[in-house]
Amino acid sequence: MRLDVVDLDRVKAALRRRMQVMAEGVFAAKIFVVVNGKGGVGKSSLSTAIAAALAKAGQTVLLVEMDEQGNHDEDLGTSGTELADDGRAQAAAILEGKPFAPTGEARPNLFVVPGGGALEEVVEELYCQRRLAALSEDPEDQLAWMGMYAAALDAVRDDYDVIILDVAPGCEPLQLQALVAGDRVLIPSKSDPSSRKGLRTVARRFARARLLNLALRLLGVIIFATNSSATKVQNKIKEQLAEDLNGAAPVMDQTIRHVEAAAVLCRTRGQLPQELAAAPDLDPKMLPSVKALAGDYRSLALEVLQAKAELDRAEEDRRQDA
Ligand SMILES: Nc1ncnc2c1ncn2[C@@H]1O[C@H](COP(=O)(O)OP(=O)(O)OP(=O)(O)O)[C@@H](O)[C@H]1O
Ligand SMILES: [Mg+2]
Repeated sequence: MRLDVVDLDRVKAALRRRMQVMAEGVFAAKIFVVVNGKGGVGKSSLSTAIAAALAKAGQTVLLVEMDEQGNHDEDLGTSGTELADDGRAQAAAILEGKPFAPTGEARPNLFVVPGGGALEEVVEELYCQRRLAALSEDPEDQLAWMGMYAAALDAVRDDYDVIILDVAPGCEPLQLQALVAGDRVLIPSKSDPSSRKGLRTVARRFARARLLNLALRLLGVIIFATNSSATKVQNKIKEQLAEDLNGAAPVMDQTIRHVEAAAVLCRTRGQLPQELAAAPDLDPKMLPSVKALAGDYRSLALEVLQAKAELDRAEEDRRQDA
């Protein structure tokens, strides 16, 4: 069964409102987009871990999985509960104009909009809207389809301190949606050539999204599952990534170490690293790597907040000078 075709007039009205709010400078940045054109670079692990760390610190967080895989259900241990809806709430918000409502609270202060198979219909609709847009001669109609998520998320952004969008790797229309809806971009990357290629793909999509979202900024690149603790090797990786980005964003100091067994155990048990580290039945042999991973994510969450605060301040200064 096909759902109703999206009401683009509603989207256009929302985009005009958002442009106006941005121009007035009262749009506090709070939506993080976690994205890379490459799969398996830690987007979901990072999104869930950072979301949980911020929620634990008292922020009201909305975590959105824009991915048919539904990996957050595994990471948060919500598979098979009423919180896991296979992406249906998200699809209804985007396709039918329903409120962008969470299915529930996966941890105190951590509200979730899960991904899953229902997003297939969203992706189909996005491809369809993109084809229709290409036929239009009106510049506003050519771009409006990219703002379907932005329109839905703008309506709820005041309800949260932080919103995190974890975006599927292979789907350009979904990535554009997230980049138009978001404020600050985090790019996890491994150090191999194909992850770096994925990073450059994002840089191109970033430029396109900025046509509708002038306030979008790259916050930083995060080196994921790195094997090396040697400072020299780490610095080399950071240099290469910084080169790929052409100075557009810093590479975060904090990296996430490669500890596959610990990561797999977290996902299998539906526990975040800091939760697993405190689990009484954890095999003591696993404790050091789980603890170390939890520490990486804790410091990374702090560094992300700090980088955001610095960028927000710099943006505010620029606005006042203008
Ligand atoms: N610290 C780690 N060290 C090694 N492997 C890890 C680590 N954290 C997660 N992994 C593993 O890496 C894989 C990819 O992680 P994750 O699902 O977070 O990436 P992703 O970018 O969201 O992937 P996708 O593109 O498929 O959505 C998973 O199988 C996960 O178990
Ligand atoms: Mg993922």
